Amino acid sequence: MKIEDIKTIGVMGAGVMGGGISQTAILAGYNVICRDLTDEILAKAKDTMINGRFGLKGGVERGKHTQQQVDEALARLTLTTKVEDLKDCDFVIEAIGGGPGQLENKPMKIKVFGELDKIAKKEAIFASNTSYFTVADLAAATERKDRFLGVHWFSPANIMKLAEVIYTPDVKEEVIQVVEELCKRLGKTSVRVKDMPGDLGHIANRIFYRGVAAEARKVVEEGVASPQDVDTAMKLGFNWPAGPFELGAGARSGWG
Ligand SMILES: NC(=O)c1ccc[n+]([C@@H]2O[C@H](COP(=O)([O-])OP(=O)(O)OC[C@H]3O[C@@H](n4cnc5c(N)ncnc54)[C@H](O)[C@@H]3O)[C@@H](O)[C@H]2O)c1
Repeated sequence: MKIEDIKTIGVMGAGVMGGGISQTAILAGYNVICRDLTDEILAKAKDTMINGRFGLKGGVERGKHTQQQVDEALARLTLTTKVEDLKDCDFVIEAIGGGPGQLENKPMKIKVFGELDKIAKKEAIFASNTSYFTVADLAAATERKDRFLGVHWFSPANIMKLAEVIYTPDVKEEVIQVVEELCKRLGKTSVRVKDMPGDLGHIANRIFYRGVAAEARKVVEEGVASPQDVDTAMKLGFNWPAGPFELGAGARSGWG
């Protein structure tokens, strides 16, 4: 598959990430078919895409795009509860949550990819937005290990510039390059990440949660400083835009 062949993007999940990914892709000119479990979730996702804090309406008000561009973008968006509607997608990204209170659920992702693999066309490239899981473990649920990568976005998905492109030993170089070009066309800067066993969290989450956030928690547990003072120290001392406790809370909430 060449980059020009990617015209329709399937998005599994219309939550914090799936909604933001869909919003980004329709504005970039792609047709998007976004699937979630109920019409209520889909209606809420569309409302957030339009009226949310990082939504299209605010983008028009701030002069980032015109109302006409927004109308055209929304005309490229299809919301569905039927997984079969993703059968003709050229690229499918999975951004499903793990159920109430659980952000990630590996058995659930494996099951969903196994089902999707039977429905999607053979050439379609699959990607997971998983923050932690070893991509090869998810790819193993499919017959397309050579066309299966991690593409890890950051929240809010339509604002943050980074995409981690995670490659397994099975994925072809041409496919990595197509996905890197797709990230570029979606306005993202990609970094290449070798997939590792052990669900470690790629680059940024691995360093932040296993290193920085864990140490910040220890500082508080030892009574060295309060969370607020830890955040203040890192912002004023190291010029971070947000402290470790603020960063952790913001990403999970979708930044309100
Ligand atoms: N929130 C973040 O900051 C962030 C950042 C990067 C990556 N991620 C990853 O993205 C994924 C989704 O996270 P989120 O924050 O958007 O979660 P979320 O809970 O906001 O949304 C997940 C959505 O998936 C839906 N869903 C569950 N099963 C489904 C299925 N079979 N088909 C279609 N939809 C289904 C749920 O109904 C829900 O609407 C997770 O793997 C998470 O680790 C999250």
